[in-house]
Amino acid sequence: MLMERINRILVDEIYLSHLNKIKEHEKQRIFCRHDITHFLDVARIAWIITLERNLNFQKEIVYACGLLHDIGRWLEYEEGTDHALASGEMCVEILEKNGFDPEEIRQIKKAIASHRVKCDANEDLSALLYESDKASRRCYSCDAIGQCKKFQNGEIPEIKY
Ligand SMILES: [Fe+2]
Ligand SMILES: [Fe+2]
Repeated sequence: MLMERINRILVDEIYLSHLNKIKEHEKQRIFCRHDITHFLDVARIAWIITLERNLNFQKEIVYACGLLHDIGRWLEYEEGTDHALASGEMCVEILEKNGFDPEEIRQIKKAIASHRVKCDANEDLSALLYESDKASRRCYSCDAIGQCKKFQNGEIPEIKY
């Protein structure tokens, strides 16, 4: 099945333990959360963009990036570690466990580790992840928009995907 490895990640106990740790830290958070809804939104937007622009990325690679890109967020809350770098490290064992090969893991890890850095390169997994991450947020229906640093100069939130 085309999405077999992604379906395995979704129920992977290590994956779910990262999600639970993030959930604990974000109980009181008024801004965007880093939960399965965010991860799937990013994965699906990244896949829409891949199709829309005829990019040459494999579906499971795109989804793995979306699902795993913020799993290290809890370590940022606990120790101040950059969550992109932490997620890049943490994704490796989950990917190995669930059937991704070393070259696929190298690509996914690299994209995740740099997903916070703006990049306009074409056909670049990291640039795709950055753009999809930004486009995933529902700023138009957010109660905290008045306090969000993205909207301090009267920017109007809009939907692209
Ligand atoms: Fe992130
Ligand atoms: Fe994110």
